[in-house]
Amino acid sequence: MSISNEHPYMSVTAASNDAHTENGIRRDYTGLREDAALIKTAGLTAWFGSMQALKGIDINIAAGKVTAIIGPSGCGKSTFIRCLNRMHEVVPGARVEGSIFYREHNVYAPNVNPVMLRRQIGMVFQKPNPFPMMSIKENVLAGLPLQGKNTTNRDEIAERALRQAALWDEVKDVLDKPGSSISGGQQQRLCIARALAIEPEILLMDEPCSALDPIATAKIEDLIHTLRQTITIIIVTHNMQQAARVSDYTAFFYMGELVEYSDTDTMFRAPHNSRTEDYITGRFG
Ligand SMILES: Nc1ncnc2c1ncn2[C@@H]1O[C@H](COP(=O)(O)OP(=O)(O)OP(=O)(O)O)[C@@H](O)[C@H]1O
Ligand SMILES: [Mg+2]
Repeated sequence: MSISNEHPYMSVTAASNDAHTENGIRRDYTGLREDAALIKTAGLTAWFGSMQALKGIDINIAAGKVTAIIGPSGCGKSTFIRCLNRMHEVVPGARVEGSIFYREHNVYAPNVNPVMLRRQIGMVFQKPNPFPMMSIKENVLAGLPLQGKNTTNRDEIAERALRQAALWDEVKDVLDKPGSSISGGQQQRLCIARALAIEPEILLMDEPCSALDPIATAKIEDLIHTLRQTITIIIVTHNMQQAARVSDYTAFFYMGELVEYSDTDTMFRAPHNSRTEDYITGRFG
């Protein structure tokens, strides 16, 4: 798959681009050692008009791991992940400086096609946003191109994505019902299925459990545990316990800056920065 208009996607790994695991999700870390950075940002700065939301973020996101982004409301968590797949720029007046490299590709290079990039770096939003006029099945398949896909294939893709999102058993008999007709927790898993159907290499999740009850939350966390074997996940969460439970690495943002970034165990047991400690112990935020 190409993310640029002109060049094949990562020619160094093109030969192994078809690598899939048994459950069908791409896990092609050819040429990357364990824990190597799949995404690297340098001096990443983001504005909404004259308002600076991110201030020079330097971070390496490890391949094949779960990275949690934490920090008080308004610190730039959503902006950060939206920069990674070029969703930030869809806001009028929004702009970015600095660089983001995804597998050595400059994400903001003029030849990169944001639509193709978003097929590799998928996203699940905080509020479930199924297309209300589409059926459950159509919702799952909404991100796939229509060309070159026969119906059987599409049925298989829908089933696989719904199974991965732990929703199949609950909706398999009502696939033609509207996507808006199921519960909020089910809609969130439907949106996760929609993101997984296009087989992204990276999944960005922006507070995916904030509107969910503990049972639905546990299902999403189980899902992250399963998906982590096959996909790189970046999850924004306000829930410290959730970050500690699901992630390998945690980044603490504060007022547009990356204050601390370490393995999750260190972050929660022995944070280096007093602001991190204050935040994770609930003294502010
Ligand atoms: N569309 C927008 N237009 C203008 N300013 C925005 C816009 N979206 C976000 N901001 C501002 O950018 C800053 C960072 O916002 P962002 O949404 O990234 O924070 P966040 O850490 O995700 O917060 P929350 O935890 O509340 O979701 C905030 O000051 C916010 O008010
Ligand atoms: Mg946010």
